[in-house]
Amino acid sequence: MAELELPRQEALTSAFLDLSRKVEPIRRCVSALRTGRFEHPDGRIDDLGPTRISIEQAALISCLCRQCCRPLSVEVGFGMGSSATVILGTRSFLNQGFEHLIFDPYSVMEGTGDVVQSYLVTEFGDRFRRINKPSEIHTYALSSAEIMS
Ligand SMILES: C[S@@+](CC[C@H](N)C(=O)[O-])C[C@H]1O[C@@H](n2cnc3c(N)ncnc32)[C@H](O)[C@@H]1O
Repeated sequence: MAELELPRQEALTSAFLDLSRKVEPIRRCVSALRTGRFEHPDGRIDDLGPTRISIEQAALISCLCRQCCRPLSVEVGFGMGSSATVILGTRSFLNQGFEHLIFDPYSVMEGTGDVVQSYLVTEFGDRFRRINKPSEIHTYALSSAEIMS
């Protein structure tokens, strides 16, 4: 397996903030991580509450996406959808075919994350799918077709 080469933290963050000026979903995500509120273009708001990753963590996820050549990514746990937004935004910027699946049958709290999820569906269509099933059962040795059924 090839070794990952990661830039220093300042360079990672700077590249990510630079990307946020070019990619609308990343811009919205950075704003949400700073303010604690994700704003949908239609004006709806999702309050991130305590489920808030740092800009530095988001920058690292984005950097890893840039280094990953696989078209399919699978994530466990939607939370407030910040990491998903970073992954989808970065991968769409790379302009290669991709699909991002997330397993999560729960909500952090009733109704939270719905605004972010609705934004991702509008923005990325079927390149983003949330599967409302627990990961421990369904990520394990199943084909994509079986997961979807
Ligand atoms: C810390 S949050 C994830 C944060 C998210 N990455 C973000 O950027 O906002 C953890 C999530 O894992 C989900 N979760 C917990 N147990 C799970 C399971 N067995 N399968 C799938 N998702 C699970 C919870 O519903 C919650 O949404």
